[in-house]
Amino acid sequence: MLVLAIESSCDETAAAVVRDGREILSSVVYSQVAVHAEYGGVVPEIASRRHLEAIVPVISEALAKGSVALADIEGIAVTQGPGLVGALLVGISTAKALAYARRLPLVGIHHIEGHLLAVLLEHQVEFPFIALAVSGGHTHIYRVDGFARYVTLGQTLDDAAGEAFDKVAKLLGLSYPGGMEIDRLAVSGDPRAVRFPRPLLHDGTFNFSFSGLKTAVLNHLRQYPVPPTGVRLNDICASFQTAVCEILTHKACAAAAATGIGRVVVAGGVACNSGLRRAMSELAVTAGLELHFPSPGLCSDNAAMIAVPGDFYLEHRITSNRELDALPTWPLDTMATRLKGA
Ligand code: KG4
Ligand code: ZN
Repeated sequence: MLVLAIESSCDETAAAVVRDGREILSSVVYSQVAVHAEYGGVVPEIASRRHLEAIVPVISEALAKGSVALADIEGIAVTQGPGLVGALLVGISTAKALAYARRLPLVGIHHIEGHLLAVLLEHQVEFPFIALAVSGGHTHIYRVDGFARYVTLGQTLDDAAGEAFDKVAKLLGLSYPGGMEIDRLAVSGDPRAVRFPRPLLHDGTFNFSFSGLKTAVLNHLRQYPVPPTGVRLNDICASFQTAVCEILTHKACAAAAATGIGRVVVAGGVACNSGLRRAMSELAVTAGLELHFPSPGLCSDNAAMIAVPGDFYLEHRITSNRELDALPTWPLDTMATRLKGA
């Protein structure tokens, strides 16, 4: 099946053409990051307006790059939530209009379901697997038993990992979004320079808490102000990143051990982090785990990942009707109810 996928949940307008939920014919991402950087974070109203301007050109480009016409498309998948409601609605209205005009089946997709399954675009991964989903809005550990079958094992009790990266970057005077900047500066820093706390590391759960770690960085900076460039800045970045990565890797591996599932997938924007990729790879070798990371372009927001579950649902005739509406919050565990009656 040839699926057109559309993603507009936050500050990326994206469209992709994917065959059989595995083969990417095209994937176009228009990032608004530069627009929001001026404000130090995503401004929802501006995001919606930019999506409105970009959505049609982005879809046209995806069709052109994939060398397909709209008439070749057999189904449409669109991010339904979670995300910014005004941003989601742009993708959803466009998808509905196209589906209605072309009489195509349409399905609304959970954004995190896309992140978890993006790995299938590049690797063959058997179910079940443990998934660590780390993005700007999510830090969750799931047991993934199959398409639509997700069980939350743990989650952040406050900030998401990406949010913590971005907030600490802001404290350090770095530009938004700061995760990538911290990653870059950490490369030449000493990870042992400052021993920041590792909240909930040994609490026996698969939950996370990053707000205390962020406050610890703030307190440290108040006591020992850091110049805007130089080795001390790099040391803080490396020390903070190491603390986050140690927590994430420890919990993901503990979930694998507790469930007896030896396969781990790391997904979401923070999965681009070089320190996390290295720490997870090292621990996976020690623990004898099969580890998968999508390549960076498929970790951050894109539409190809939305086509993966999209193709599965459309193939099983699980579709959304014309009442399809944005769901700013949407628990992933409820996806299994879609399988009933399929
Ligand atoms: O998945 P994503 O693209 O969008 C959401 O669904 O949130 O994730 C964006 C988050 C941002 O917080 C960004 O700072 C973070 O991923 N991020 C990184 C890196 N690249 C992106 N965090 C740490 N290191 C990176 N290299
Ligand atoms: Zn995302």
